[in-house]
Amino acid sequence: MCGIIGYSGERPAGPILLEGLGRLEYRGYDSAGIALFDEQHRLYCARATGKLEQLTSRIEGVLPPAVAGIGHTRWATHGRPSEANAHPHLDPTGRVAVVHNGIIENFAALRERFTARGASFASETDTEVLAHLVAEALDEGADLAEALRVTLAETEGAYSVVVIATDDPGRLVAARAGNAGGLVIGHGEGEQFVASDLAALLPYSRRVTFLNPGEIADIRREGVTLTDADGAVVERAPQLQPYDPVAAVKGRYRHFMLKEIHEQPDVALDTMRGRYLQDPPRVELDDGSPIAAAQARELQRAVLVGMGTSQYAAMIGRHYIERFARLPAEVDNASEFGYRRPVLDPRTLVVSVAQSGETVDTLLAMEEARREGCPQLTVCNTPGSQATRIADGVIHTRAGPEIAVASTKTMTASVIALHAMALHLGRLRGSLDPEVECAEIEAAMRLPAVLGEALLLEERMAAVARRYAQFEDFLFLGRGLSYPVALEGALKLKEVSYIHAEGYAAGEMKHGPIALIDERLATLAIATRDEVRDKMRSNIEQVKARRGPVIALVSEGDDSLDGIADEVIAVPAFEGALAPVVALVPLQLLAYHIALERGADIDQPRNLAKTVTVE
Ligand code: AGP
Repeated sequence: MCGIIGYSGERPAGPILLEGLGRLEYRGYDSAGIALFDEQHRLYCARATGKLEQLTSRIEGVLPPAVAGIGHTRWATHGRPSEANAHPHLDPTGRVAVVHNGIIENFAALRERFTARGASFASETDTEVLAHLVAEALDEGADLAEALRVTLAETEGAYSVVVIATDDPGRLVAARAGNAGGLVIGHGEGEQFVASDLAALLPYSRRVTFLNPGEIADIRREGVTLTDADGAVVERAPQLQPYDPVAAVKGRYRHFMLKEIHEQPDVALDTMRGRYLQDPPRVELDDGSPIAAAQARELQRAVLVGMGTSQYAAMIGRHYIERFARLPAEVDNASEFGYRRPVLDPRTLVVSVAQSGETVDTLLAMEEARREGCPQLTVCNTPGSQATRIADGVIHTRAGPEIAVASTKTMTASVIALHAMALHLGRLRGSLDPEVECAEIEAAMRLPAVLGEALLLEERMAAVARRYAQFEDFLFLGRGLSYPVALEGALKLKEVSYIHAEGYAAGEMKHGPIALIDERLATLAIATRDEVRDKMRSNIEQVKARRGPVIALVSEGDDSLDGIADEVIAVPAFEGALAPVVALVPLQLLAYHIALERGADIDQPRNLAKTVTVE
């Protein structure tokens, strides 16, 4: 969703804010703005619609020197993308400026309260009431942190906010309300930063503090004071982040998406490091398993939750849990979880999967599970995120920052982490055949190299992309472990190229989608060598019989579809349950290259945001 950045220090704030916004732009990019204090301690505010470059060119040469300020890049929720709706928002007197991410549910009633007294609003946003509320509390004598606390108490919803005011130039106050819209503080020497995610802070500081819901950070250049909703001081030592800032830079790649696709061999290695042990062969969760052996044996079922790509990773995880831990497992779309009164109890293991750890739907499902006393694990790529704080145990995916909106490397890392978790659980439950464990570990050791081989398919996928870039409809088919891969292949294509694509369980094709098949609908069939390959072949024959063009993924050495499918892509052979991640690579490359052919905005597709912090 929206990106937030704030700075207080001795250096010129403007360039720091703009650079931070550049790193956050993937979160939202329909408008951007900054607010800072000029030399007379007056608020200077600039906003522009469109991407950050519009704002940058507008303020070039006129940006006043300042040592504190806030910035925002927007993904619209309330009010269309426009300059008036862009953040920061000011109160009518220009005393207070706010940037905000998330939703204020009772904003209409609050707005009504102010307009009834004759106040005017300059935007259609929910955000603007925050500026009015803070200014009102300041008028009544509150200090800035107290004014924000009063504001939090008056509002409903889950959001994060950063405020500056002319009363105290150089000071920022920031808060997180509820479970949406995380904020992280970056601690420097004589300067402090705040941002909606880590990527914006890494060039400046690796000492960070994540705000918990209800907490307020009072930020001055000398230091930061944290208080809770009641105003009590919270003592929490900053964490040292392991991320390398270089990892957040595009390097030689034209797009972050391509860079992140190419990082997958290294990511696989990092996710497995210290977990897949060979002597003796076993899988350990080095993060510490909160599931004791006795508790693991008591478990009666597992429920996996996630959204989008993370949900598809969870679907693969379900296979692993059933196969290795012999635990009945089901997958839920996290956004639907709360609507069914799911039957949960302390013998239900809830496993959430999340790249950001801040997806509100996933967090709400986790909270529901917590209320029911379920033990919880989260597979997460963002240390310190809210998901990692709700769960009893975390399996960090260690994929590094993922900047492209379309997830690639984090799906691979999540699937590996789920594989490790299921093997570990299987051993604790005594349901894992040691020979199977050994074979899976041996196969996993080959995975980074095999992913490297899969990346060599790039030229081939680029050529296929050139032939298929003008298609407007795609069907992705898979069975078993390849079914979630088909769903993910379709999601990638629609996200980055705006082509209509559907993922289906191949067996389902005959029950409806087959009616769509003609020469204008391209079918991508995942027919890599596994127990369902022959059935996939029948599906491909059915498509061909209806003149549908077929791109088939097969395992290297398999020529059984030569002359049948229009394109036969040989994927490096891989024995073992992690095979789906190998098939993911050509699908990611296909989506990327089709988007490139179509001139799409690959790293920042229209309408999307990297972290979805609204319901
Ligand atoms: C996938 O390319 C998207 N970025 C999206 O579906 C994403 O997987 C989803 O929003 C969940 O995000 P999370 O993993 O951060 O919870």
